[in-house]
Amino acid sequence: MELEIELQAEHLCKSYQKSEALKDVNFKLKQGVYGLLGENGAGKSTLMRILSTVDFPSSGSVLYQGKNITQMDEDYRTLIGYMPQDYSVYPGFTATDFLNYMGTLKGIPADRLKAKIPEALEFVNLSDVANKKVRTFSGGMKRRVGIAQAILNDPKILILDEPTAGLDPKERIPKRAMRIRK
Ligand SMILES: Nc1ncnc2c1ncn2[C@@H]1O[C@H](COP(=O)(O)OP(=O)(O)O)[C@@H](O)[C@H]1O
Ligand SMILES: [Mg+2]
Repeated sequence: MELEIELQAEHLCKSYQKSEALKDVNFKLKQGVYGLLGENGAGKSTLMRILSTVDFPSSGSVLYQGKNITQMDEDYRTLIGYMPQDYSVYPGFTATDFLNYMGTLKGIPADRLKAKIPEALEFVNLSDVANKKVRTFSGGMKRRVGIAQAILNDPKILILDEPTAGLDPKERIPKRAMRIRK
């Protein structure tokens, strides 16, 4: 049996020149879906950047299965999918081009990508615009391309910062919930 996932934050602190974004944050997450709630500037994005290793804590650590994620480096990055809050997509690319580009950067083999891209586009309900240029997309559609790139590598840990920003109410309902409602 596969070991249950455990992601733990220990005494996480992050200070910027003018502010203390995280102050002694501690938690232990097991398999599941978690949401971060807090007002603007509460430190949500800072925490997600640290969990995605695109930023580092001033002190404290994040452990995945007991191992420090900074030390795990590439071994950890292959396990995660991340969409930053200020995510943007290259307007001149089609959705498929963009996912190809992102998947290649992530080191996903070409044959695997070829199968995975239509699957990811289907998941975010963009199959019918797969070969349209991203510049023609609405804000919500661009956001969904961002979600698609985050799931390309079948991540064990998926970190989405404000995934529903710019999505209309229908888009916000998870697809599985939509299926159940039908
Ligand atoms: N790169 C940065 N440089 C300086 N201050 C920052 C930076 N990123 C975030 N902050 C500050 O850290 C605090 C937390 O910001 P953030 O993590 O973006 O909060 P949230 O996502 O909850 O709105 C805020 O006071 C913000 O101004
Ligand atoms: Mg934020």
